[in-house]
Amino acid sequence: MATRDSLQQPTWTAVDDYLTDLLLGPDPALAAARAASAAAGLPDIAVSPPQGKMLFLLARLQGARAILEIGTLGGYSAIWLARALPPGGRLITLEADPRHAEVARANIARAGLAGAVDVRCGRALDTLPSVAKERGAEGFDLIFIDADKTGYPDYWDWALRLSHRGTLIVADNVVRDGAVADPASADASVLAVRRYHELVAAEPRVTATTIQTVGIKGYDGLSFALVVQDPAR
Ligand code: SAH
Ligand code: DHB
Ligand code: MG
Repeated sequence: MATRDSLQQPTWTAVDDYLTDLLLGPDPALAAARAASAAAGLPDIAVSPPQGKMLFLLARLQGARAILEIGTLGGYSAIWLARALPPGGRLITLEADPRHAEVARANIARAGLAGAVDVRCGRALDTLPSVAKERGAEGFDLIFIDADKTGYPDYWDWALRLSHRGTLIVADNVVRDGAVADPASADASVLAVRRYHELVAAEPRVTATTIQTVGIKGYDGLSFALVVQDPAR
């Protein structure tokens, strides 16, 4: 598997570059956000440009007015999501690392989106209770889970609690080079994304799928769960 991946990675990268050039075009705000994140020493693990565009499209399809993101990094995916909001719409994004949060706030401001985005610093499990209190029964129209992978089972519970009928819950990095299908894996992140899928599968209030992805970030996958019934509160 490793050999096949190493042979195919250049193709996956070339195709992502091709699609990004052709379909997304030059994007000064996003380019500046990536450059500033790299200059600040943040890890290069934001979603790819085509994936960012997909998040934007999903938010548009949802008509999302309120979006929650767990895991901000330098604000790259946050910028894509916030661009999809209508006037008066709001994105709350949760980030544990104050350095990342600071870089993200600057990137989001440079993209002209400071008024729509609230970067909350703190570990998500510590900040989610106050987010829940503020949003009340309204919850969010789209929730993007992309923080520490071991937290995914807890983030799933919170996402459901913060959902209403029609909410879309998206989770990044849930395939992990295919290890998600390995029942013998002892890797904590793999165990967590396996548990995540089990929770999704066992939840009668959602209908869901996971799509494997290849691209500049290698081989991974994204989970999509649509809440079809109001979760009990
Ligand atoms: N969504 C971003 C990438 C996020 S990378 C993008 O695509 O642009 C994961 C981020 O989650 C990192 O910045 C990391 O600091 C943050 N993180 C890790 N553990 C966390 C936690 N417990 N609570 C909130 N954020 C966390
Ligand atoms: C990592 C985190 C991510 O959200 C991602 O998309 C890729 C890698 C990481 O922690 O290594
Ligand atoms: Mg990710």
